[in-house]
Amino acid sequence: MAKDAEKGEWKEYIWNPRTREFLGRTASSWGLILLFYLVFYIFLAGLFALTMYVMLQTLDDHKPTWQDRLTTPGMVIQPESDETFEIIYNIQKTESWDMYTQALDKFLEPYNSTVQEQKNDECKPDEYFLQEDSADVKNNPKRSCQFKRDFLQDCSGLSDRYYGYQDGKPCIIIKMNRVIGMLPGKDGQAPFITCGAKREDTDKIGELMYFPPNGTFNLMYYPYYGKKAQVNYSQPLVAVKFLNITVNEDVNIECKINANNIPSGSERDKFAGRVSFKLRINTIN
Ligand SMILES: *[C@@H]1O[C@H](CO)[C@@H](O)[C@H](O)[C@H]1NC(C)=O
Ligand SMILES: *[C@@H]1O[C@H](CO)[C@@H](O)[C@H](O)[C@H]1NC(C)=O
Ligand SMILES: *[C@@H]1O[C@H](CO)[C@@H](O)[C@H](O)[C@H]1NC(C)=O
Ligand SMILES: *[C@@H]1O[C@H](CO)[C@@H](O)[C@H](O)[C@H]1NC(C)=O
Repeated sequence: MAKDAEKGEWKEYIWNPRTREFLGRTASSWGLILLFYLVFYIFLAGLFALTMYVMLQTLDDHKPTWQDRLTTPGMVIQPESDETFEIIYNIQKTESWDMYTQALDKFLEPYNSTVQEQKNDECKPDEYFLQEDSADVKNNPKRSCQFKRDFLQDCSGLSDRYYGYQDGKPCIIIKMNRVIGMLPGKDGQAPFITCGAKREDTDKIGELMYFPPNGTFNLMYYPYYGKKAQVNYSQPLVAVKFLNITVNEDVNIECKINANNIPSGSERDKFAGRVSFKLRINTIN
C-alpha cells in the first residue's frame, strides 16, 4: 500500500541501515559538521573576549571615558514632597509639618560636624580644589571638603530644631546635582542661588534669607571627580528661609542657579539649573 511505502521511506530517511546514514548523512559527515560549528563558535567567543579585553584596557576605573556634555546640572529641594513639589502645612497643626522637619533632620545627618570632620578635609575656601592626575600617577582616592550643617545657620536645625516651620518661616534646602568635572563660576565668582515668586505671586513671597550668605556654593567643592575617585564627597547645600511669606495662599516659587558659565533653562532642558515648587502655609486666625 502507498501509505506503508511512504512510512518506509520516512523510516529510511531517518535511519538508512544500508548506507548507514542518519537523516541523510553518514556519521563522519555529521562529525565534520559538528566539528566545524564547534571551531566556528570558539573562534567567535575568542574574538568577543579579545575585543572586550582591549576595550576594558582603555577604560579608567575612576573616570568616565564618555560623558554626555551636561553643562547645566539639575537641582532638587529638601524636604522633598512625594514628587509633587508642594509644601503645604498648617502652622498650628504640628502633625502637618512634622514630616518636613523630620525629612530635613534625616537629610542633614551626613552633614553633622563629627561625620564631616571624620570623612573630609577643611579646604581653602574660594578656590577650586584641584586634584588632577599627573600623566601616569593616578591621584586616587581624592579628598573632599567639609560641608557642615552649621554652615546653614538658622536652617541647620541646630539653633532652631524645627527649621522655622513652627512659626511660618520655613527653610527649604537646595542641592545641585553632581556633574563630574564641572567648574561652575568664573573669575573667582562662586555660583549662587536666587529664589523668586512666579509673576502673579511676587507680592506674596516676602523677604528671603540665604545660608550660607548670598546663597553661594563655594568654589572649593568643585570639581567633582566621580563616585569612585572621590568616595567621601558631600554636595554643598544652600538653604532659603522665607521670612514673611503670605499665609493662606498658594505661592509658586522658582529657585535658580546663577553662574556666569552655567546657562540655565537651555533649549534642551528647561528645568536644568532651576527648580520650582509651591509653598502654602495655612494658619487659623
Ligand atoms: C548629629 O548631631 C546631632 C547633634 O549635634 C545628634 O543628635 C545626632 O544624633 C547626630 N547624628 C548622627 C548621624 O551623627
Ligand atoms: C573617607 O572617610 C573615611 C571615614 O569615614 C576615612 O577613613 C577616609 O580616609 C576618607 N577617605 C578620603 C579619601 O577622604
Ligand atoms: C555677598 O554679596 C555682596 C554683594 O555682592 C558682597 O558684598 C558680600 O561680600 C557677599 N558676602 C559673602 C559672605 O560672600
Ligand atoms: C510682611 O509682609 C506684609 C505684606 O505681605 C507687609 O505688610 C509687612 O510689612 C511685612 N513685614 C515685614 C517685617 O517685612
